[in-house]
Amino acid sequence: MNILVTGGAGFIGANFIHYLLGHNIKDRVVNLDALTYAGNLNNLTTIQNDSRYIFVHGNIADPKIVKRVIAQYHIQAVVNFAAESHVDRSILHPQSFVTSNYVGVSCLLDCLRDTKVTKFVQVSTDEVYGSSKADQKFRETDALNPTSPYAATKAGADLMVLAYYKTFGINVNITRSVNNYGQYQFPEKLIPLMISRGILGQPLPLYGDGNNYRDWLNVWDNCRAIDAVLRHGIPGEIYNVAGQNYHRNRDIVDLIVKQLDLPRSQVQFVQDRPGDDQQYVIDDTKIRQQLNWHPEVDFTTGIHQVIEWYVQNERWWRPLVARVKNR
Ligand SMILES: NC(=O)c1ccc[n+]([C@@H]2O[C@H](COP(=O)([O-])OP(=O)(O)OC[C@H]3O[C@@H](n4cnc5c(N)ncnc54)[C@H](O)[C@@H]3O)[C@@H](O)[C@H]2O)c1
Repeated sequence: MNILVTGGAGFIGANFIHYLLGHNIKDRVVNLDALTYAGNLNNLTTIQNDSRYIFVHGNIADPKIVKRVIAQYHIQAVVNFAAESHVDRSILHPQSFVTSNYVGVSCLLDCLRDTKVTKFVQVSTDEVYGSSKADQKFRETDALNPTSPYAATKAGADLMVLAYYKTFGINVNITRSVNNYGQYQFPEKLIPLMISRGILGQPLPLYGDGNNYRDWLNVWDNCRAIDAVLRHGIPGEIYNVAGQNYHRNRDIVDLIVKQLDLPRSQVQFVQDRPGDDQQYVIDDTKIRQQLNWHPEVDFTTGIHQVIEWYVQNERWWRPLVARVKNR
């Protein structure tokens, strides 16, 4: 298959390209990425000379470039990771989130009309459901109730994706995963932020009382889920993707403090961000039953290996730390 991966220079997109080229020998991958502060071609150095991989610098909100890429490389499927992805930044600068996450996705969808593309996968998030109450697990049919500007733009995009399915018959799927952890994550997100700051001897800022509660999924397992949806997803369906590894933010930071042997005094509680959701819990029965997917990476082993990866790859994250602002 000739697959257009948008946002493939970011965290999950880069891991997905590695996954595709490692597992599907006949796939050809075109990576269209605008290279925002979060886009990093160093995530792809090991495959940059692979004849099955092509990088194109461009924005998903630019119909000229999207149409040219689809025609020139005979694209058959599109997987969209391109987005502004950091909730904190969406509170400071919501407009760029609207442009990439909503207008950009609408543009991508529109470029698919009258092409030979047979599948569009939108990579969305559990945050579109908003915070869950005790014992509540959101299913794909539940109402969207986003809190942050980030989540609102992702929810808007999901609705537009479904509109293109219903109105124009484009074969779409949406995945909504929980928080991912893994290699190549930009060091403004909780896990790489705490590791890099820990190693640099800087304070570890923990929002509120640190009791906010998230489900964690290894990025490798998310790539497996997205690949399963790409090849076998039922047209028009949404798939929740959970890890079933529920941890408070303070527990994640504790794990890092212990593994890096840091003084506990390095952890500093700071004011929570406005509108921070208390917890996200989703039900992923559908992808397990329909596509026979389940996570394979054990959390304790996975998180240990990921912390070690950042320790071993300081040369990868050090130049990015300078780009981390507004935290
Ligand atoms: N990281 C998570 O835990 C998580 C969880 C659920 C869903 N998601 C979703 O997965 C996707 C990828 O997340 P991530 O963490 O890898 O993000 P990221 O910020 O690491 O990467 C985003 C990539 O998209 C590119 N990009 C941004 N705007 C673009 C545009 N307009 N045109 C082309 N490229 C553009 C950036 O340059 C970057 O390479 C996002 O859509 C996000 O909403 C992420």
